[in-house]
This record gives sequence, structure tokens and C-alpha cells, in this order.
Amino acid sequence: MKPLPIAAAALIACVTGCARHAPAGTSTPGNCNLAGTPFCNAHETVPPGWTGHRFKLLQDYRDARNAPDAMPWKKYDYATQPRQYVFALLTYAYRGNYGTTWDTPNNRWKARHWFHAPALDYGDNGREPISGLTRERTSAIHELGDGQIHCWDNWAVGLYNDPGGFTLGKVWSNHMAPDPAAARFPEGTMSVKLLFTSAPVSEVPWLNGSPEWDADIYEGDTTAGNHCAAPPTNPPRVPQKVRLLQVDVAVKDSRANPITGWVFGTFVYQGGRPQPELVAIGAKNGWQNLAPVGLMWGNDPGLAAGQKPKQTWPNPDVSMSHLGYQGRLNGPVDNKISSCLSCHGTAEVALDAMIPPTAAPGQPPPDVSPWFQNIPSGVPFEKGHISTDYSLQVAFGIRNFNQNHPSAAAENGVSAQNALSPKLTGNFSPRDPPYVAPSQPINWSGFRKPHPAPTPR
Ligand code: HEC
Repeated sequence: MKPLPIAAAALIACVTGCARHAPAGTSTPGNCNLAGTPFCNAHETVPPGWTGHRFKLLQDYRDARNAPDAMPWKKYDYATQPRQYVFALLTYAYRGNYGTTWDTPNNRWKARHWFHAPALDYGDNGREPISGLTRERTSAIHELGDGQIHCWDNWAVGLYNDPGGFTLGKVWSNHMAPDPAAARFPEGTMSVKLLFTSAPVSEVPWLNGSPEWDADIYEGDTTAGNHCAAPPTNPPRVPQKVRLLQVDVAVKDSRANPITGWVFGTFVYQGGRPQPELVAIGAKNGWQNLAPVGLMWGNDPGLAAGQKPKQTWPNPDVSMSHLGYQGRLNGPVDNKISSCLSCHGTAEVALDAMIPPTAAPGQPPPDVSPWFQNIPSGVPFEKGHISTDYSLQVAFGIRNFNQNHPSAAAENGVSAQNALSPKLTGNFSPRDPPYVAPSQPINWSGFRKPHPAPTPR
């Protein structure tokens, strides 16, 4: 691993200088994630000397209402007015959160509450204690532009509105026996996820001016030769700045019921290009510069090669180096062989392969059609599993719980195989297939050369 870049080491809230530290254990061992205790805030405590923000998991699920206070997106048709629809979702999520660290209840929260999903604090990807971020897919060399010469990690935090929090409360009402069958999100459930990158502006200049948060995350980059290596087990963490790169939104809208019941959209940071819809609500300090990449309400099953998807709206004003498979929606941090609804359609207990298989050398391409179905809300991806209604935070939380409380899992009738989904245990990041082993260099020739920044056409 490379040393921490100077820019990232500066400007952090450490009076005595926060040393790199081993992230062993949970935040307050014995005091959380047990029957009768609150859920843990994070995977580890803040490092000694840290005087800045401390993340607090919003887990007062009993305060959550079963219906949203308002559904401003309902004024618009997602298929014919996708831009208005996706901005209605983001401006709804900004309300009461904008200008804060998004985990601080304030006056503007009176109209609506926000909640985090529990049990995402376990393991090497687990929530860090400063901003509550969990580790996501790594951006490979050049994926964020020509200047990106190292692999950089992405870290994210997601929140649910009232009906989402109400549902989380039902799933986790017994802390020692989460109930995946209770994950049926009501109309108006909305979730927002902020994705930050550790990539520095020196390598990704279009991140200039992007909102910066502090996070206690792995040092430096994860480059090994010309590929990204998995960090070692339990790697040391150190407080540093991360920059907002992508914002995801998802909403339960009954108009999409015959398809999946959900509409997913995503935004990318676009330095220096304020969006009128965000300026209009007073967003500033970079938060006004998020442009929609697109919106999707279905997976376009059976899409033939060369055809354009009909259930994705790619924003014609933003050009990306890649979307998802065959032009379905995916974000800049996401894998181009998948799509939002493809990956989230696999949300079930026990979790299995979220990403479609790729061809083995010399073999014909595998059938990926199961990953691009329109799975109705509540139907599992595989027979015999239990759907968590497109929520991967619920599916991952339950998986984490079962792996870390094997005796409770056994008591709840969860088989060892379900507790330890074998196909997933080797993966480091939940949003990516296993890392390419250092002995197999990535073949960049199949990689469309990304342009320096997502630019208007
Ligand atoms: C390859 C898999 C994958 C893809 C593709 C993907 N996600 Fe997710 N997403 C996840 C995982 C895993 C989680 C839960 C863990 C976490 O939040 O870190 C998640 C969580 C979320 C959440 C929080 C609520 C929930 O459902 O768990 C939202 C909202 C979200 N994603 C939206 C999107 C959008 C929008 C896209 C497309 C632009 C997208 N996702 C693409 C894997 C994926």
C-alpha cells in the first residue's frame, strides 16, 4: 500500500494527531448488538485524539410512521417525466439533512425522520465511527478518468425515511432473531445513499469542490501493480477526508407494481455545474452540483444486443464512461455488468450471487437472464429463499448477524449454510465480485477508455 497522500492527511480533527490504529472489536463490546441493547454505532470506536464528529446510528424505529409525510415524486410520471421525478426524490432526501452530517436530528426533522439499517458494523467493510460509512466497491485504475492511476476505495452511508424505518423496526424487533419476512416496504418508502471516494482531486480533477466528509478508513490506495488488491484482513484505519461522488435514491411506488414496485435513480457529482432544481432549494457547498445519471423502473428482460433499454432513462445531458449491462442504469461506482435493479433484485436471505457470472476463458458466455428479470416486490430471487424486498441493507444485516451470532442463528432455525452463504464469504466488498488475484493482471483492452469527466453532450 502507498503512504497516505498529504492532501488527505491534512485538515482532520485530531488535536494530538490521530495515529493509524487497528480496528479490532466493536465500538462498545458487550454493550451493543445483543438482546436488550441498542445496535452498535460502528465497527470500532473513534481513534484516540479524535475530536471531530462521531456517528450515531439512527435506530429509534419505534418513532417511525408507517406512511410518509408527503410524496412529492407522485406529481410526476417516472417514465415520461424522469428528470422531475428523480429530482423530487433527491430534494425530498435533502430536506432536514442538507448542511448536516445527515445523522443529527434537528428542527427540520419534525416533518419526517430518517433511520439507518442496523448490523452493517461487522467485518472489514463495517461502518466506520466518524460518519457511519461502510466499504463499497473499489474504483479500478482509470475508471474515474485518465488521471486515476491508483485503485481507490468508496465508502457509503444509506438512510430510510419513516415507512422504511418502520419496516426496519419490524424486521429487527427481536434483536436476536431478525425476521426477513417482515421486510415488505410500504408505499412511499424512500432510501438515499451517499457514496464517497478516497480518490484525491489530484487524480480525479472533476471531484474538485465536492463535499468532503471525515471517515476512519483504510490508509492510502489498494493498488498492486496494475490491478486492485484486497486489503489484508483487519487492516489499520486512519481518519481522512473522503469526497462525495455519487448519490443513489430508491422509492417504493405502486405505479411500478406490475414490474418491481421500485424506482431507482442515481446522481453523479459534477464540479462547477449547478443543477437548477438544487439551487432552487438553497443547496450549496458542492451539494448543488449533483446531476442525475438516470432513472430505472425495470430491468428490460430479454433485451437483445444492440437494443436500448425502455425501462431505464439515461439522462441525455450527462455522459458517463459506463452505465450498467446493455445500457441499463448503474452509477459511476458500480459494476458495468450489473444494474441497480439487477443487483437489488437478489436481496434475499440467504444471499447468493448478486452479480451475473462472466465467461470462463474459452467457454461460451453464461446465461445472465436470471439477473435481468423483473422480480415483483416480495418474491425471492431463488426458490426457497426469503425476499427482503430489494433491500440489500436488510439482507446484509441479517447475514452479518447470522455469521456473528451462530448460536442464535441455529436457535432461529438458520442452517449453517444459510448463515455463511458460501458463494459470498470470499468477497471483500459487498458491491463487487472477488478481487482479481495479483497473478492475473486485468486486461485493460476490453475496457472502454474513460473520458476525464462526465460532461454534458
Ligand atoms: C452489485 C450490487 C449493487 C449494485 C449494482 C447497486 N447496489 Fe445499491 N446496494 C448494494 C448493497 C450491497 C447495499 C447494502 C450495503 C450498503 O448500503 O452498503 C446497497 C444499498 C443501497 C441502498 C440503501 C437501501 C438498500 O436497498 O439496501 C440504496 C438506496 C441503493 N443501494 C441504491 C442503488 C442504486 C440507485 C443503484 C444503481 C445506480 C445501486 N444501488 C446499485 C449493492 C448494489
